[in-house]
Amino acid sequence: MTSPTATLAEVEQDARERLAAASDEAALEAWRTGVLGRSGTLTGLLRGIGALPEAERKHAGAALNVLKQSLEAALEERRDALRAAALASTVADALDVTLPGRPMRRGRLHPVTQVRREILDVFARLGFATVEGPEVELERYNFDLLRIPEHHPARDMWDTFWLDPSTTEGVSMLLRTHTSPMQARFMETHEPPIRIVVPGRCYRYEATDATHEWMLQQVELLAVDEGLSMANLKGTLQEFARQMFGPQRKVLMRNSYFPFVEPGVELSVDCFVCPGNDPACPVCRGSGWIEIMGAGMVHPEILEAAGYDTRRYTGFAAGMGVERVTMLKYGITDIRNLYQNDPRFLAQF
Ligand code: DAH
Repeated sequence: MTSPTATLAEVEQDARERLAAASDEAALEAWRTGVLGRSGTLTGLLRGIGALPEAERKHAGAALNVLKQSLEAALEERRDALRAAALASTVADALDVTLPGRPMRRGRLHPVTQVRREILDVFARLGFATVEGPEVELERYNFDLLRIPEHHPARDMWDTFWLDPSTTEGVSMLLRTHTSPMQARFMETHEPPIRIVVPGRCYRYEATDATHEWMLQQVELLAVDEGLSMANLKGTLQEFARQMFGPQRKVLMRNSYFPFVEPGVELSVDCFVCPGNDPACPVCRGSGWIEIMGAGMVHPEILEAAGYDTRRYTGFAAGMGVERVTMLKYGITDIRNLYQNDPRFLAQF
């Protein structure tokens, strides 16, 4: 004769053993259907209560319900334990301390920024302070005060982006085409002695090719003092060329024209890529010399316009393109590479 209590104990033991052996969600679900489901073993026992003698029913029913709740709780507990174990093993994998470290990607300065800073550093050591001026400039500073009046053919040297006069209350404004306007601005508010460098972006309404961009960066140089001469200009720029391009560098000044200087020169350094006579040299093309900037003695009319006594003061000025210096230094042949921001290009500097 089967005692209902014995059956209960057997069912419980069997159920707990199989629950302990279930090791994933699918096994847990199979266990649940097999024990607590509609045709599960425990459900079967519950159904059988009605067939028991009157006296035993109440007791058996209560015992079965207690067991049912306890097994349901055991199922949840087992499920939680399995989930915690799965999570722990994932974390353990993620924390494999024997893996080599991931390299840190470090940012770097753009090559033009690096070279601009180098240029300013060289001039800082020579006693020149850095000042900056506006990129949106008045026609007056960009042209007129630099002896480039309207209709003067020299304006053709700079193709200009003009601002729409309806947005400037009729004042004639433009995107500065060079950093030279800062010469006039600075002299307007300062007295000699002056030694400044002016870095900055300039804009030109030009078709883009390997050596021209519509935006370029320049560094302007201005010195005004008693007794400054071409010799001071040449000495300063020679020292600059040596510090930028190497101690062996020689500089050459050739006559040139810029309305704001007299005399005006174009300064070249001797080729540091070829011995100076290789017609295939991409940098000097066999001429032996590389032009790097315009320069000259500040035109006396400009000093006068600033209110300086031109019997006492003279000045020299120069202007160079930072992209050009960068290209020469690193042998870059297409200026457009500099601003396409291709990381494969930029990572080389
Ligand atoms: N501003 C000139 C340009 O953009 C460059 C230049 C030439 C600047 C001679 C100077 C200078 O200060 O003296 O083409």
